[in-house]
Amino acid sequence: VFLEPKYKRVIIKLSGEALAGNAGHGIDTPTVQSICCQIKEVFELGVEIAIVVGGGNFWRGRSGEGMDKSTADYMGMLATCINALGLQDVLEEMEVPVRVQTAIEMKQIAEPYIRRKAVRHLEKRRVVIFACGTGNPFFTTDTTAALRAAEIDAEIILLAKSIDAVYDSDPLVNPDAIRYSELSYIDVLNQGLKVMDSTATSLCMDNHIPILVFGLNEPKNILRAIMGEKIGTIIQE
Ligand code: GTP
Repeated sequence: VFLEPKYKRVIIKLSGEALAGNAGHGIDTPTVQSICCQIKEVFELGVEIAIVVGGGNFWRGRSGEGMDKSTADYMGMLATCINALGLQDVLEEMEVPVRVQTAIEMKQIAEPYIRRKAVRHLEKRRVVIFACGTGNPFFTTDTTAALRAAEIDAEIILLAKSIDAVYDSDPLVNPDAIRYSELSYIDVLNQGLKVMDSTATSLCMDNHIPILVFGLNEPKNILRAIMGEKIGTIIQE
């Protein structure tokens, strides 16, 4: 049986840490290759893929203890750019066409974010990687994923995590933690569940963008998510 992907256009949100592998820091090439293999697999099914990547493997806003918050966040935006170029390189090595767009102009490095160009790239079968977050301090890369999903009309945000689903508490600490397979945006906000920050969650809620939270540790999970399998936690109305 030939199965059709459930989605035509998606945003995949990768945390910076996802690229670090066991080292927990920097870019681990085999880890990135394994993620890119999964992306190539769904790309070849005809799915239009945009990627938002974080920067926590190099720098987090909170790394700058005592530092001006905006400065720390700008440093984080540069970190997302390093990751975007790393992903671009590995995907191109696998012969997947890629365009990186940055929310802060750095023309020598990549093209600037232009919504209509991004959509055109997707239509022309290129993976688009969005770097530098929204280009504003105080906004996370999860908020970027929500914003870009709304802008390019993505059907869903695939929020790839190191944990396999959303729980009411940390399952590594609390063995009785409850695992959710479905949640509403309001549940996430009211219960203060650590899925996305509230800005990102609200933006998804207001624009009716579902979020699928799943673990990146299972090698077939991006494909399973795209095929509409019931993995992880789905957050919607
Ligand atoms: P089409 O116009 O649809 O053909 O898209 P294209 O991306 O193939 O064409 P374009 O001539 O815009 O880009 C060619 C290459 O240059 C691509 O790899 C782009 O990512 C890159 N590129 C385009 N604009 C910029 C820019 O402002 N800065 C940098 N560094 N690269 C750019």
